[in-house]
Amino acid sequence: MIAITPMKDRDISAVVEIERRCFKFPKPEAVFREDEHKYLVARDENKIVGYIGVEKILDEVHIINMAVHPDVRGQGVGKRLMQHVLNDEEVFFLEVRASNETAKNIYQRYGFQVISTRKAYYPDGEDAYVMRRIPFQ
Ligand SMILES: CC(C)(COP(=O)(O)OP(=O)(O)OC[C@H]1O[C@@H](n2cnc3c(N)ncnc32)[C@H](O)[C@@H]1OP(=O)(O)O)[C@@H](O)C(=O)NCCC(=O)NCCS
Repeated sequence: MIAITPMKDRDISAVVEIERRCFKFPKPEAVFREDEHKYLVARDENKIVGYIGVEKILDEVHIINMAVHPDVRGQGVGKRLMQHVLNDEEVFFLEVRASNETAKNIYQRYGFQVISTRKAYYPDGEDAYVMRRIPFQ
């Protein structure tokens, strides 16, 4: 059974391992240590299988990142993470690679819409879509 809990020191090495497997330009461990309070982990028994980072920026909530271990994708862990952080009081936004159809699908499913493009946002020059979720729209 999946449990979603705040990330602790002891979870960081597993989170960094998932980050490395999931992203072309993974964030270093130091960033997760510094931002520890912003992250939640998905745990299956004792194994960390995914994580999500969120931060409040002015009056909006920014989803920094979300990732699920490649071995357990397509089993609803991403949906559990999204359901845990979303609410119908606040506005949420995030950036996603223009080519990341899987992530765009899950975000659209939860009511996010593309509102703008950040040109060459990623180090390899790919654009990011900015997606926003406004409650009850
Ligand atoms: C995006 C990600 C977190 C989804 O996690 P997941 O646990 O596999 O997702 P779920 O099983 O909960 O599926 C949720 C929804 O995502 C979409 N989805 C999942 N896998 C998909 C695939 N292979 N193709 C298209 N859409 C897909 C679907 O909308 C799905 O809902 P449905 O099963 O009801 O159709 C995971 O694919 C991942 O870690 N990707 C690499 C990192 C990444 O791109 N993160 C997002 C950065 S912005």
